Amino acid sequence: MPSHRIDRSLPACYAMVHRGLEEIAADEITRDFGGEVKKSGRGIVAFRLPELDRELLRLRTVEDVFLLAWGSDELPYTSEALERIEQWTRKAPWQDLLRWHHAIHPKPAGKPTYWLVAQMAGQHGYRRIDARRALARGLAGVFPSRWRMAEANAAVEVWLTIQGTQAVCGLRLSDRTMRHRPYKREHVPASLRPTVAAAIVRLAGTGPGMVVLDSMMGAGTILAEQAEWARERGWPDLHLWGGDRDRFAVQAALINLRRFRPEILARWDSCQLPLPTNSVDRVLCNPPYGRQLGTEENLHDLYRRAVHEWNRVLKPAGRAVLLVGDPRPLLDAIRPVGWSAQRQYRLRLLGLPAFLSVWRKRDD
Ligand SMILES: C[S@@+](CC[C@H](N)C(=O)[O-])C[C@H]1O[C@@H](n2cnc3c(N)ncnc32)[C@H](O)[C@@H]1O
Repeated sequence: MPSHRIDRSLPACYAMVHRGLEEIAADEITRDFGGEVKKSGRGIVAFRLPELDRELLRLRTVEDVFLLAWGSDELPYTSEALERIEQWTRKAPWQDLLRWHHAIHPKPAGKPTYWLVAQMAGQHGYRRIDARRALARGLAGVFPSRWRMAEANAAVEVWLTIQGTQAVCGLRLSDRTMRHRPYKREHVPASLRPTVAAAIVRLAGTGPGMVVLDSMMGAGTILAEQAEWARERGWPDLHLWGGDRDRFAVQAALINLRRFRPEILARWDSCQLPLPTNSVDRVLCNPPYGRQLGTEENLHDLYRRAVHEWNRVLKPAGRAVLLVGDPRPLLDAIRPVGWSAQRQYRLRLLGLPAFLSVWRKRDD
């Protein structure tokens, strides 16, 4: 959608994403929602949309979405920041933002409640609680006296997020259902966050009728996100093939994927797949990281054998999107099969480094 349709009288928004996924979230905002991205970095993407309504809550690669009250890249590290937070908060158009908030996120019945959240990363000359107090001073008079503070299920949440000199403040529009999908009823250890699985699917470039394989599927999050992607685009005929060597994972995936009707859900060894050569269009996979498996040596061995097998089952020019912790064993495993690198992203997932990469098999 062209950006000239953006109505500047509507409030700007921002989304929180896992670090390193900003570019992929920005692509979703611009291409699928016709938005205009103003700024992105450090796990935050600020944007405007042509319209503001509940559709916004359908973003799949972001963890949370907010109406922007104010943002700055110049928050001092010293306690002078507290004065700025208070001033910027006082000047923000809260009544307008609250109107939009109530339109998108209807107020629950009963006495209205609100909550203030302050998040801080980096070394600062003041404490998080001081930042939250400065936020509260700036909000004096915004909420009528009959509103009370309540941490659980507050009707309105005001968030302040500080990372070094960057700060954003706004009203949270999303709730936990945005990041925790209803399909995900069963979990396995190290199961992927659905927003990260959605990013993997965006990079896959899947088309109607394709065969998509996750041969170490855990609870099936990637295949579920792929199925939702196809459903939103009205494709009736995507073929989902998945498996895992762990029987509890296969049971979890059976439950999570039931409504998506996968063609294959098997207990198998990803390094010896019972699948024909050149049969798969996309391999989307999040193999175990080192700490989930044991020593570095057997991780090298697993990746080498798995890549060799994926190379066999992938059609010529097929694509693989892989998420691992340490890139080295994966790069060592891919070198012999000669795939060409398409995209690479360095992520931080729940505080740990991760490497997301897109590969293309040779077409000869
Ligand atoms: C990081 S988890 C995958 C999590 C998954 N993406 C999810 O969202 O739940 C890695 C999975 O690989 C599986 N696995 C490890 N080695 C395997 C092998 N040789 N063949 C098949 N599955 C394997 C594990 O049982 C585990 O479920």
